[in-house]
Amino acid sequence: MDSIVVKGGTPLKGKIEIAGAKNAALTLMPATILSDEPLTLTNTPRLSDIKTMTTLLESLGVEVTSLQGGKVQVMSSHGMTTTRADYEIVRKMRASNLVLGPLLAKHHQAVVSLPGGCAIGARPMDIHVTALEAMGATIDLKDGYLHATTKGGLKGAKVPLRFASVGATENILMAATLAKGTTVISNAAREPEIVDLADCLRAMGAQIDGDGTSTIEIQGVDRLGAATHRVVTDRIELGTYMLAPVIAGGEVECIGGRMNLVSAFVEKLQMAGVEVSETKDGLRVARANGRPKAVDVTTEPFPGFPTDLQAQMMAMLCMAEGTSVLEEKIFENRFMHAPELTRMGADIDVQGGTATVTGVSKMKGAQVMATDLRASVSLILAGLAAEGETVVNRVYHLDRGYEHVEEKLGAVGAKVERVKTDG
Ligand code: EPZ
Repeated sequence: MDSIVVKGGTPLKGKIEIAGAKNAALTLMPATILSDEPLTLTNTPRLSDIKTMTTLLESLGVEVTSLQGGKVQVMSSHGMTTTRADYEIVRKMRASNLVLGPLLAKHHQAVVSLPGGCAIGARPMDIHVTALEAMGATIDLKDGYLHATTKGGLKGAKVPLRFASVGATENILMAATLAKGTTVISNAAREPEIVDLADCLRAMGAQIDGDGTSTIEIQGVDRLGAATHRVVTDRIELGTYMLAPVIAGGEVECIGGRMNLVSAFVEKLQMAGVEVSETKDGLRVARANGRPKAVDVTTEPFPGFPTDLQAQMMAMLCMAEGTSVLEEKIFENRFMHAPELTRMGADIDVQGGTATVTGVSKMKGAQVMATDLRASVSLILAGLAAEGETVVNRVYHLDRGYEHVEEKLGAVGAKVERVKTDG
């Protein structure tokens, strides 16, 4: 397993290219199942999660051709051989459950392993199941698999969500494109990745209105066709790299960044005294003189502060001036980075879903362990400001969601290198 070694104390300067969104690509790829014609995705991020999704789709008989070093994926599902998504693949990545809606819609059946819990929470699928049953599916749980069938295809329905689940909204949105009649999803998730999926589905011939709001209306059609779609910029990678100069000092331009992708996050940065401006090519971030100020943060569904930026924001608040209160409202166990940051000298008191962070003037490098995707990158960010060397172990978590983090940070002057460790 590799480690990342960070030597702190160097202010950053330069440009970082932001990749296509992992959480958009992971729902756009299964959308290929909805059509017998090819779906081409451009600006796809080069991540291990994309490789896992490719393996899953290929296990179903989908043809996936990777071009331009993985930035372009051409997929064709007309030769599909099975509708069973195996536990061995699904357990590695929860997003595998996004084949459920498309398989049911196109093939009227699916056997999909429950992903099981992960480090940040139990992550059940009750919202997905309730909604698809409302659309006429019969879904039984047997030996850890969801066995789903629908006689004569899915039917349009009114589908109120008890929580604005991103994955459930995506599964239902994809399923509804081929259902007979009209589907109305209320309390739908409003994330930019939902809008990106709807844009792609419309390019394939789907009839969708209201994506990006809490109410999405879909008129089912008989079939979907071919499309080429550019994956939207990754707002979580964007927010992550915007924090790098805030923590390390200096100024960085994040190429491809747009304010509308991260407005709640930018509001908090500006309250902390950080300068953020929109340039022709992206977003420029500079830390005004001195440490950032403490700010309180509560994670919420979009357009609120994203849970996927909570760990990274905590790393910044650890070295801010003053005390911040961080509330994690989306996942039940998403503070595992806190004890690791404490090893670096942070002052954090975690009580259930609330973390109180009292900023310190200096963090100290240490050996720390990554526990989940976003926690791992928060430790690297903290290392940028820490005295001495920080070694982040188990960086396979990192590679799931960040393209060549050591190269992107290295290009703006950070002292970050990947060390191959055996085992
Ligand atoms: C997506 O996960 C993202 N993953 C997550 O990003 C992100 O943290 C999350 O949305 C919230 O924004 C992808 O898009 C691949 P949810 P998803 O369904 O769809 C509960 C990352 O770091 N829930 O909105 O699984 C659930 O347990 C990852 O890139 C139910 O109770 O998130 C959680 O507490 C991590 N029943 C909350 O809702 C359900 O049926 C949010 O889940 C579904 C969800």
